[in-house]
Amino acid sequence: VERVTIPILRRWRQERRRVTMTTAYDAVTAGIADPVVDIILVGDSVGNVCLGFDNTLPVSMAMMNHHLEAVARTRPRALLVADLPFLSFHLGPEETIRNAGGFLQRGADAVKLEGGAKRVEMVRALVDCEIPVMGHLGLTPQSVNVMGGFKVQGRNADDALRLLDDAHRLQEAGCFALVLEGIPAELAQRATESLSIPTIGIGAGPDCSGQVLVFHDVLGLTKGHRPKFVRAYADGFQMLQEALSRWAADVRTGAFPAPQECYRLPESLSDIIAT
Ligand code: KIV
Ligand code: NA
Repeated sequence: VERVTIPILRRWRQERRRVTMTTAYDAVTAGIADPVVDIILVGDSVGNVCLGFDNTLPVSMAMMNHHLEAVARTRPRALLVADLPFLSFHLGPEETIRNAGGFLQRGADAVKLEGGAKRVEMVRALVDCEIPVMGHLGLTPQSVNVMGGFKVQGRNADDALRLLDDAHRLQEAGCFALVLEGIPAELAQRATESLSIPTIGIGAGPDCSGQVLVFHDVLGLTKGHRPKFVRAYADGFQMLQEALSRWAADVRTGAFPAPQECYRLPESLSDIIAT
């Protein structure tokens, strides 16, 4: 099967073909997602989804590299994007390039980073080093302390106009795509029609060039509060826990393992250990 590449995404944008993206954090989730979606994101959402943190701020480059390497070993055909975590792209172009370049050396095709005008210098530095960059605007989870929680963004005139300006600056700086998260559908539509690069929405309405949801959210594996924009296509938590319970019950009754699930000694040797 043909690998998804950045020129292919550019063609799909021209053809108005909608793009699908989900997250993967290890070889199991990558194996499930890869035949289905166009883009796999090793998201810093690994922090809250898999590692038990309350938000993405504690996620380090070491953690991201560990998860990226696991996904990359499956050699996905989907475009593989890795999220630059908090503080990995803020301290200067040199450190940013080293971190992002390390992702490419580990098998990522591109990197993603959060933020608008303030991040343009870093985006340019990466693009100058042939590192493809996906932008991310709106409800950017690494800004949780500034936003005062995970709140919809771009709801007043100033914020909406700033988001459109940021989107165009990121495109100008060389981003090949933009994630638009947690913004009014009308604003995402306006951004999408005024940009030439694809937008990938999450909580940003139906008129983006594509959609992204966290793997564990789509499959209903996450417990607790689920944002309004998530549609779970399975109750994965319930389904998996129920299967595990049946196995545990079989262990307790002795119904597992059955004879066909056991290894046997040859007839001639059974006598020897019996004595
Ligand atoms: O980390 C992540 O999962 C993301 C997507 C939700 C866009 O950034
Ligand atoms: Na992220």
